[in-house]
Amino acid sequence: MTIDNKKAKIILEDGCEFDADIIHDNMGSKSIDISGLRKETGYITYDPGFMNTGSCMSSICYIDGEKGILRYRGYDLEDLVSKCDFIEVAYLMVKGTLPNLEERNKYMQLLNKHSLLHVNMKQFLRNYPSDAHPMSILTAMIASLSAFYPELEERDPEENIDLTVTRLLSKMRTIAAYTYRQMNGLEFIDPKYEYSYCENFLNMMFHTSVNGYTPNPVHVNALNKLLILHADHEQNCSTTAVRLVGSSEANLYAAVAAGCCALWGPRHGGANMEVMNMLSKIQNDKMSIDEAIRKAKDKNDPFRLSGFGHRVYKTFDPRAKIAKRICLEVMETTHTNDPLLDIAMELEEKATHDDYFVSRHLYPNVDFYTGITFRMLGIPANLYTVMFAMGRLPGWIAHYLEWRHDEYMKIGRPRQVYTGSPLREVKPINER
Ligand code: SDX
Repeated sequence: MTIDNKKAKIILEDGCEFDADIIHDNMGSKSIDISGLRKETGYITYDPGFMNTGSCMSSICYIDGEKGILRYRGYDLEDLVSKCDFIEVAYLMVKGTLPNLEERNKYMQLLNKHSLLHVNMKQFLRNYPSDAHPMSILTAMIASLSAFYPELEERDPEENIDLTVTRLLSKMRTIAAYTYRQMNGLEFIDPKYEYSYCENFLNMMFHTSVNGYTPNPVHVNALNKLLILHADHEQNCSTTAVRLVGSSEANLYAAVAAGCCALWGPRHGGANMEVMNMLSKIQNDKMSIDEAIRKAKDKNDPFRLSGFGHRVYKTFDPRAKIAKRICLEVMETTHTNDPLLDIAMELEEKATHDDYFVSRHLYPNVDFYTGITFRMLGIPANLYTVMFAMGRLPGWIAHYLEWRHDEYMKIGRPRQVYTGSPLREVKPINER
């Protein structure tokens, strides 16, 4: 990152001027540093949805929305998906480097060591209604981890945070599996020390004393890749929530719980569930693809093409291409078929050749194909956003830690454009 000695001159209506530094980031993107604008001119900027606003400097994730490029710490997503498992990518996100074999195996054992839940948390989880939304359980349980595993005053802060990171990475997987078990009235299964991260998750989800379940290697491989696809995505809605909450120096559990809440929405992490609802509706209503496209384009019709469109990508989301390939791989190797995939591929084909979508740069995003694969792994649709959170957790943690080492460490506190009432006097209640 370099700061240009040329300035951007902002000339304001009353002749007032502001000379802003021009920042060049490591990939050539340019930004105008307005951090002194209000102090020098009294003006603020207005940018709803932060569409043109950089909230921080970060070295974790790089996206080129025009070219469809996604990299974690400089490694291309395609390269990571083909050569790493999720634990290696989680290590990369949190520690900044890829582990060697010994480091990876030690990390996996450390995560397994911390994968148990406090017995009282299990009792707490047991009392949720079986039809509770899984994100309500995940969010509450993540925040509750701070009650059961508090950061100790006498322990070194960096040691505290390292332990919290490990507990979170491991226990979120256990909470996710136990949420499924609670929804289905099944006993909780303890993790196995010898199992990998994804093997343990699938085993804790599906093993019972009468089905002799052992994790299918094809499913384990697919799950590793799907979680890698979700591991980070720069300053998206939920990661911004994590950074904002972290900027008040709230603990990591609280910041990640905030990230879960932001992810929950159908415009963000809830979209993978909405995609399955949409594909199932097209199938059940025997809707033609042309009819579905027409409805998605009709502003007066609530039907939306979920899994399409993106704030940053103005071409194919690279994750959507990989998710589609994973889906086809699982189908071919397990000789299964899902008619929803045919519907999804026909929708993609028609929409990406329709001017409404092309002119608005609307293409499949990460959520368009992932749900179909999750379903083939036996994971129910209402758990998809939980799966997204499991994948995104290393990214959330990395951004929380990055803020802690940021030289500014400012608390996040945007300004506003006030549209309310001028001063008015309170009338006594009997005169109102
Ligand atoms: C994720 O930020 C991230 O990085 C997020 C994420 C991550 O990894 O963290 O990538 C994960 O959240 C992916 C997105 C998941 N959401 C969905 O699939 C929901 C459907 N998509 C839309 O809600 C929408 O595309 C957003 C929310 C994703 C993006 O919204 P923007 O950037 O604010 O764009 P917009 O809503 O202003 O849309 C621009 C135009 C509008 O039409 P016009 O007013 O110009 O006529 O495109 C239309 C929109 O109506 N449009 C759609 C559409 N998405 C946008 N029309 C039909 N179907 C859609 N899906």
